[in-house]
Amino acid sequence: MRPIGVFDSGIGGLTVVKALRDLLPEEEIFYIGDTARLPYGTKSASTVERYSFEIADMLLAENAKIIVVACNTASAIALPLLQEKLSIPVVGVIQPGAAAAASATKNGHVGVIGTRATIESCAYETALRAIDKNLRIIARACPLLVPLIEEGWLRDDVTDRAIARYLAPLVDSGIDTLVLGCTHYPLLRDAFSQFLGSEVNLVDSAQNCARAVTQLLEEKQIATTDTTQTARLTVALTDKPDAFLDIARESLQLELGEVLVRDPAERPRHR
Ligand code: DGL
Repeated sequence: MRPIGVFDSGIGGLTVVKALRDLLPEEEIFYIGDTARLPYGTKSASTVERYSFEIADMLLAENAKIIVVACNTASAIALPLLQEKLSIPVVGVIQPGAAAAASATKNGHVGVIGTRATIESCAYETALRAIDKNLRIIARACPLLVPLIEEGWLRDDVTDRAIARYLAPLVDSGIDTLVLGCTHYPLLRDAFSQFLGSEVNLVDSAQNCARAVTQLLEEKQIATTDTTQTARLTVALTDKPDAFLDIARESLQLELGEVLVRDPAERPRHR
C-alpha cells in the first residue's frame, strides 16, 4: 500500500491529517513535520521553496502516491513548482481554503490571516479572486500566534489579547468570514469564536483539502481498495518531539503511535 504523503513546517499540519483520517481512514499516511527548521512563515521565498522540495523528496523516498502540502506558507510559495516538477499529484491548502471561504460568505467580505510569508505572497487573494472577482478581501499577518499556540496557550489571556489586536481591524471592516490561513490556527478555533461571535464564519482548509484529496485519488484511480481497516499513520519529525506534539495530539484526539526522527540532509534525491 502506498501512503498519502503529508508535510508541514511542523506539527500544525496534523489538523489536515485529522481531516484526512476522518474522511479516509483506510488510507495510509506518512506525515513529515520539519520541526528542525520551523517556522517557515518568517523565511524568504527561496528558502521555503528549497525546504519544501527537500521534504517532498523524503516523502517520495517513502513511496508516497500523492503529496499534501499541509502548510499554508509552503503552499503559498512552493506549490506551483512542486506540481510542475514532481511526478506524483500535489495538493495544497490555499485553493481548498479559498473555495470554502467563497461559499461561506454572504456579504462578500472575507478576512484572511496567516504568517507573514503567506500574507505577503497574496496567494489567498489570488485564489479568492479567481473564484469571485467581486469579493472584498482584507488580509493580515499574525506572526505572534504560532509561537503562542506552540507554547500551548490555547485558552489564555495573552493569546486572547493578541487575537483581539490582530482581528479588530478585520471586524471593523465588516468581514462575515475569516480564513484561518495557517495550519496552526484551527487549534485556536474556540478563542477566535469567542472574540468574533457567531456572525463571522471561521473557515480552515483542512476539511476541504481532505475532500480535494479524495477526489484526486478517485480521478487518478489510486485510492486504496482495502477499505476494511484503519490504515497506519506514521509521523516523522526533523527534530526531536517537544511538548507541542502532545498539545496537538490531545487537542485533535489523534492516535500517533511512535514518532520517528528524520534528518533531511540524509535523504537521497528522488526526482
Ligand atoms: N505551518 C505554517 C503555515 O501553515 C505555520 C508555521 C510556520 O511559520 O512555519 O503557514
